[in-house]
This record gives sequence, C-alpha cells and structure tokens, in this order.
Amino acid sequence: MSDRKLAVVVLAAGKGSRMKSDLPKVLHPVAGRPMLGHVLASVATLAPAQCVVVVAPGMADVEAAAAPARCAVQSKPLGTGHAVAAARDALAPLLTEGGAELLVVFGDCPLMTSDTLQRLVAARRPAGAPEIVGLAFRPADPAAYGRVIVDEAGCIEKIVEFADADSAQRQIDLCNAGIVIGDAARLFALIERLGSHNAQGEYYLTDIFSLAHAEGRAAGVVECPAEEVLGVNSRADLALVEALMQQRLRGRAMAAGATLVDPATVWLSADTRLGRDVTVQPSVFFGPGVTVGDRVEIRSFCHLEGAEVGDDVVLGPFARLRPGAKLGRAAHVGNFVEIKNAELGEGAKANHLTYLGDATVGAAANVGAGTITCNYDGFLKHRTSIGAGAFIGSNTALVAPVTVGDGALVAAGSTITEDVPDDALAVGRSAQQNRDGAAARFRAERQAHKAAQPAPGKNKAS
Ligand code: UD1
Ligand code: CA
Repeated sequence: MSDRKLAVVVLAAGKGSRMKSDLPKVLHPVAGRPMLGHVLASVATLAPAQCVVVVAPGMADVEAAAAPARCAVQSKPLGTGHAVAAARDALAPLLTEGGAELLVVFGDCPLMTSDTLQRLVAARRPAGAPEIVGLAFRPADPAAYGRVIVDEAGCIEKIVEFADADSAQRQIDLCNAGIVIGDAARLFALIERLGSHNAQGEYYLTDIFSLAHAEGRAAGVVECPAEEVLGVNSRADLALVEALMQQRLRGRAMAAGATLVDPATVWLSADTRLGRDVTVQPSVFFGPGVTVGDRVEIRSFCHLEGAEVGDDVVLGPFARLRPGAKLGRAAHVGNFVEIKNAELGEGAKANHLTYLGDATVGAAANVGAGTITCNYDGFLKHRTSIGAGAFIGSNTALVAPVTVGDGALVAAGSTITEDVPDDALAVGRSAQQNRDGAAARFRAERQAHKAAQPAPGKNKAS
C-alpha cells in the first residue's frame, strides 16, 4: 500500500430534472437514508484525507446532509467535468502538497459498495499501474449509459456518451459507471483541457480518457457488478435501486442471525439492527433508527421507527413504535398499541389498544386494554410515570403530568388526574348505582306506549 493521500469528490450538483421533484435528487431516500448518505458512508471506509461534495447554488439542504464533508458550489450545471473542476479550490492545500490521488464518485449511485471502491484504489497500487482507472459494468440493458471503448491492450481508449454514440458504439455492452480514480494533479490538468463540443454541449468528465489515450498514456478499467452502479435518474430507477437495497439489507439481517419468515415483505432501513434469533413475521416496516435485541419476536404488521427493543421482547401483531420508544427486556407490546417517547421496563406489558406517549412504565407493570396517556394539553406535552408492578385497569385515561406509584392499582375506566401513591388503589370514575327492578319497569312502560300507537302503514288501502 502506498501512503498517498486520497481526495474524494462527490458530484451532486445535477438538477435531477427527470425526477420531477422539488427535492434535490441526491436527497431522495433509499432505505430511509438520502442517496448521498449511502455514497458518503461507502467513501468513508477509504478514510480519505478530504471529501468534497459538489452542489448547485441554493442547495443548502444538500450541504446540510453532506456535513461534515465540505461542499463546493458549481455555478452552472455544465457537465461532470465542469463539476469536478468546481472542487479544485477546496482541494488546493492537498494539491499543492503534491502526490495526492483523486477519486470521483457520483452522488446518485447509492448501491456502490466500499469493496468496489477499495478494488479501484488497489488497481493503482502496483508499480507501473495506470495513472487513471475508470469503473465499468455490463448491465442487462445498457440503455443510455456512456459506452467504454477499450483498445487491444484492454486499456480505455475513450468513453462515448450515449447521445454522441453511433449505432455500432451503442451495441457495446461495457458501460461507464462514472467513477474515476487517478493522480489528482494529472486529472485536474486533463479536466482543464476539456471542451464542450458534443451533443449535450457539456464538459464531460469522460473525455479525459480520450485526451490521455491521445498522449499514449493508457487508462485502466475495473469492472463491478451492474447493480452497484445503477444511477438514479428517475422515480422508476429509484424504485429499482430501493428493491435491490432491500434485498441486500435482508440478506445481511439473515446472515446476522435473524429469521425473516417472508423476506420480500419486510422493509428495512439502512441502519436497522436486528439481533440473533430475532423472528420477523411477514409484513413488518422498520423505519430509520431501530435497534432490536436478541430472541425478539416481531409479529406481522408492526411499524417501527427510532425505537430500541430489548432482548426477548414480543411485539405485535399491529404494534406501532414511534421515535423514543424503548422496550426493556421481555416486555410485551400487543395489537393496536402505539408507543412514542416512552420507556417500558423489564417484563412490562401493554397488550391491547393503548397509547403510551411521553411516559415511563416500570418493570413488570401491566397496562390494561384501552389505556391512554393524555400527554398533550393543546400547547405542551407532559409526562406520565407508571411505577414498577403497577396495574392500570382497562380504559384508563392518565392525564399528564401524573404519576402512578409502584405497586399501585388503578380501577378500570378511571380518569386519573392526581398522582397515585405507591400501593394505593385509585378509582377515578363516578360511582355505580344499581336501581332494583328499574330495567323491568322501563321495558313495561315502553311496551305499553308502543301498544297505544297505531301500527304504521297497517290500515292503508291495498
Ligand atoms: C454519467 C456519465 C455516463 C455514465 C453515467 C453513469 C458523463 C459525461 N457521463 O451520465 O458516461 O454512464 O453517468 O451513471 O460523465 N453532475 C454535476 N454537475 C453537472 C452534471 C452532473 O454535479 O453539471 C452530477 C450529478 O448530480 C450526478 C452525476 O454528476 O450525481 C452524474 O450526472 P448525470 O447527469 O446523472 O450523468 P449521466 O447522464 O447519468
Ligand atoms: Ca446519472
């Protein structure tokens, strides 16, 4: 390995007009994370000395998503070559040091793996390795990708954009992934010489290959699986990339010891973490920020995001965990239970038709069916605290802020507005009255009244 410093430029200034969206293309999420985030995560595994993301003017949201990577602004979308040139000033200190390497990647290729990037870096390591190496792939349908033309020695002679290719060139199935690595000073020198006399009137980064070849300096090519470099240009591409990413994530979850009973129906986020011997039944959604411990059973139709699920928990069917939900070991959360910003202690149970928001539930507490924490007064959110071993009877409204002590009992149907001391029984409902014989008297009265009325429609002439 050489100790050359690596600079990375991520291109993300394209309009993405084929997405027909107000959101910049690279911010469209795949597996719950912006495409740019996937690319930056792969790049980070190379530990580059510097990473610069090229954005268009007014893309503050992309700049925020790129942080802590620096951004450079490409004033006009004049092509991929022009975009790399826009990063030059930001890289100036590294370039003056000399000997740095430059890797250019696209922000719209979220399936790119760090393995492939590492192979690309490695291709420049041997003595006498080419000064530029391009990444190529052979997709089932080469569509509108740039075509890579190699010479007899297997070196890149040129890359022809689809719009500029003749019909013979369009028959070539070796396509340009757009990712390039090379000596930084050399790449910038070639980029300075790019012209824009082509079908799209753009400064194509791809033209550096024909410039280098004309000088007799061969460029190398590394091939990678087609699915890694699918560029997202449209919503249909986005859906395809999402499907492939889901397959990858499901494969990883299963390899790590989770059973997905029907993998195709489980949707995972890029950061979903499932422990060993987790079983996920069909049709479960994991939004961003979910961590699941070992031996957890997640039954069908659960929806989780921003949640931490402890070991041995049983969840669902039809449970919803929203951000800040934290379930302790062996907690049980059943059907139609919604939990937000609330912690359940070890072995606590909320099994039916319940909303727990901004709450703490102690170990082994039992939250009865239909319990609601009334956490919002129209202006502010307030907390509910339920002690260890407490029992909340069915259909209880806990009006926050309120505390139910350890071991306390709340009678079913209560509306609790005052704190309940430890081990107390709280009854917060109107007292029941039984009036002997009243139901029978009521029926008799109604029947007498009915008999006195003329039967409707009976006496009409037929
Ligand atoms: C590019 C390649 C093509 C390759 C394909 C792979 C060129 C000229 N063409 O075509 O050979 O097969 O990718 O996906 O490089 N961008 C900017 N500024 C610009 C233009 C583009 O930052 O002025 C960024 C875009 O945001 C995007 C990337 O560069 O992340 C690629 O641009 P895009 O317009 O998608 O290029 P393609 O036409 O797909
Ligand atoms: Ca593209």
